Amino acid sequence: MTVINLDILIKELQILLKKYKVEIIDFLNFKYSPNKVKDIESITGDFSIKRSMFKIGNIIVKNPVVSAPLAGISDNTYRIFARAFGSALNYTEMISSYGIYYKHKKSFSLADVSRFERPCGLQIFGSEPEIMLEAAFMVEKLADFIDINMGCPVPKVLKNKSGGYLLRDEKRISDIISIITSKIKKPVTVKLRIGWDRSNINVLKIAKIAEFNGASAVAVHGRTVRQGFSGGVDYEVIKEVKEGIDIPVIVSGDINSFTKASNILDYSGCDAVMIGRASKGNPWIFFNIIAGLISLEYKGEPAKIDEVSGLFDGFTPSIEFKKDLAKLYLKFMIHFKGEEKAVREFRKCISWIFKGIKGISRMRENFVSMKNIDDVFGQIDNI
Ligand SMILES: Cc1cc2nc3c(=O)[nH]c(=O)nc-3n(C[C@H](O)[C@H](O)[C@H](O)COP(=O)(O)O)c2cc1C
Repeated sequence: MTVINLDILIKELQILLKKYKVEIIDFLNFKYSPNKVKDIESITGDFSIKRSMFKIGNIIVKNPVVSAPLAGISDNTYRIFARAFGSALNYTEMISSYGIYYKHKKSFSLADVSRFERPCGLQIFGSEPEIMLEAAFMVEKLADFIDINMGCPVPKVLKNKSGGYLLRDEKRISDIISIITSKIKKPVTVKLRIGWDRSNINVLKIAKIAEFNGASAVAVHGRTVRQGFSGGVDYEVIKEVKEGIDIPVIVSGDINSFTKASNILDYSGCDAVMIGRASKGNPWIFFNIIAGLISLEYKGEPAKIDEVSGLFDGFTPSIEFKKDLAKLYLKFMIHFKGEEKAVREFRKCISWIFKGIKGISRMRENFVSMKNIDDVFGQIDNI
């Protein structure tokens, strides 16, 4: 298949997005304007919510909903869709500072950010301040800000004293952040967990170290490194971080709906919520949350939809919409990765996009054998 020009794909995405917006606006029953779609565009502009805007260094973050760095997931296509559906900020997945330093091709391909994904942070991980500085310097011009990973719990990363391991070494954290902020012109941010384990909850201290050494924002996943990705999220500690420092704080962990996002923003006072796993194959979650927040702002209450809870908690697009989205998503992936790699990686995306649809698990074995775009489109048409 010939690779389609990015501008043409973006036009197709805009058409898809418009369709979604019409549907969700009808669903939310916005009554403030006869010209509904046009109006929500002018109100949200670039999906901005004035009351909630904040700055990371010189970057204006236009609403309080951002997409998470997700290794193996938050690639160019993910970030373009997240942004199109309203995410105010994107991140690359974590990239090895050694990989950048030694000019590995894979590291630089992860650092490629198109103009449709911005503002976008480029996340690096490592343990040696000098190497991390050099890496940050080498990729600084490719993104809008540099984010430092201080939370990854993967054993291979911890073994190299990187990611979440750093939370055990406050002095090293101070050295890394200070050396990078002193030489890098773009804003520098840090992504943290709340501590190494329950007996060592030190995120407030570390956030203060980050602020003192010139970081422009912190994002906090409310679990310990030891917890990995399960068990409860401690939003209380993140609230203390927000109260304890003056730079923006982004809260992360299990935020998967408008109701949860709105409650956590209110409770923690944080500047933004970060959406990770809930956005897999589900980019419309960004607009669901934003539309809910706008509804709250304009009506003084969220649109009451669910009869039991009385709360708006999301809008699931039709299967037809998902089919259009899936096909376009693959076309974007092919643009960035070539057909073979894109189709191989799309096997997991297709399951995410159609998750919950009857009979989808039985189709999984067919997904595994998809080899080219025609196979994929055939499978999508069969859903
Ligand atoms: C598959 C996967 C990959 C992740 N990759 C990264 C990463 O590269 N960098 C990072 O800072 N966090 C990473 N995270 C953590 C997320 O950014 C997020 O903080 C965490 O998953 C909690 O949020 P969630 O419950 O919304 O997913 C990853 C999480 C998952 C599940």
